[in-house]
Amino acid sequence: MAKTPKTYHVKSFGCQMNVYDGERMSELMAEQGLSAAASAEEADLVVLNTCHIREKATEKVYSDIGRLRKGGRKPMIAVAGCVAQAEGEEIVRRAQVDVVVGPQAYHNLPKLVADAAGGKAALDTDMPLASKFGALPARRRVAPGAFLTVQEGCDKFCTYCVVPYTRGAEVSRPFAAIVDEARALVDAGAREITLLGQNVNAWADEDGRGLDALIRDLDRIEGLARIRYTTSHPNDMTQRLIDAHRDVEKLMPYLHLPVQSGNDRVLKAMNRSHSRDSYLRILDRVREARPDIALSGDFIVGFPGETDAEFEDTLRLVDEVRYSQAFSFKYSPRPGTPAAEMDGAVPRGVMDERLQRLQAALNRDQAAFNEATVGKTCDVLIERRGKHPGQMLGKSPWLQSVHLATDAQIGDMVTVDIERAGPNSLAGVERVKAAA
Ligand code: 5AD
Ligand code: SF4
Repeated sequence: MAKTPKTYHVKSFGCQMNVYDGERMSELMAEQGLSAAASAEEADLVVLNTCHIREKATEKVYSDIGRLRKGGRKPMIAVAGCVAQAEGEEIVRRAQVDVVVGPQAYHNLPKLVADAAGGKAALDTDMPLASKFGALPARRRVAPGAFLTVQEGCDKFCTYCVVPYTRGAEVSRPFAAIVDEARALVDAGAREITLLGQNVNAWADEDGRGLDALIRDLDRIEGLARIRYTTSHPNDMTQRLIDAHRDVEKLMPYLHLPVQSGNDRVLKAMNRSHSRDSYLRILDRVREARPDIALSGDFIVGFPGETDAEFEDTLRLVDEVRYSQAFSFKYSPRPGTPAAEMDGAVPRGVMDERLQRLQAALNRDQAAFNEATVGKTCDVLIERRGKHPGQMLGKSPWLQSVHLATDAQIGDMVTVDIERAGPNSLAGVERVKAAA
């Protein structure tokens, strides 16, 4: 029987929403009187906050469980997140973990841990109607760049994706609850807030307000310097939201708008419900509203049936858009999704080659985007210490990492002349303030 744990460690995989959930679970454990262990290896309770989006992510969980038990150690292990939701009891069967808790049930973690310590099976993958957020403790201390979940779940049912099954239907948190949490985050040290949702731009409330209205309201919070949001779906990119990029100074010039493929037949088979052209026209309007906007995206290569010519369409789209950065993946069949039943599996070698070619093009554009920042002056939000003494690391408005030598502290906003660019980061010098 597992003992009642005194120390905990939460390890999050996957998307930023998992990072947010991981922070909230840590706060819950701290509220229960547990203290944070220095590492997973030293903790009495390890929460693995898992991702189910691609096969590799899932397999990682099982190898992690094995590693935690090396040398005969027996920490209490809780599997949370999307693998917990998708596999449920199967995880208990396969790996004999103590707790399994889904992404909509983790407010029950204290009870589940107590049950497990008492020798009871502790599994909760319910998706209750009442939101978990009301049952979570208040935010206390956070990093300068904080996450805030405003919307969860997905009703789009892209044929490759598990999210509608693991995170459930689209649900928007109420306007007032979000604004309250944003204020609490700022009081707890946040200067930048990234609004999170699987379809964050589908956020809406009962009064018909959309994400643009929420952003305009958050803009008024004193002490909050920057607002970002992710991840968006092209079909929910309203003109009002695009206009907010023109009007709201705190809204950073950055948009992550996944397209997945540049070919209409593939987009249709993916059930994306937008075309190559409609996607590009949205970007036209976004760039019209905010000419310096940095664009990011997600891509899948080797979707079932994807031909060489169809893949070339994706490369051509990349050439046209010139992303500042992007994420690209090999298609991974997920059990229970429609695409997993489709014919036309693309051979591994072909998939590898396509991914390499796509990533070469994306890396080229990322380097060019970084290079184009050299000579500009911009605000940098200091987030952490660098490797060298006196060196700090922060983020540009376009989400690039910036290294600089400065006396500024974590959480400060400094004005920086960008002097050098690398493939993954920038370097600059702090602009000395003119004497008053
Ligand atoms: N295989 C490969 N990539 C996937 N993604 C989602 N599902 C799959 C899958 N089955 C990618 C998409 C999505 C990102 C979060 O992960 O590009 O936008
Ligand atoms: Fe992974 Fe998607 Fe779950 Fe995030 S929501 S953890 S990306 S499966």
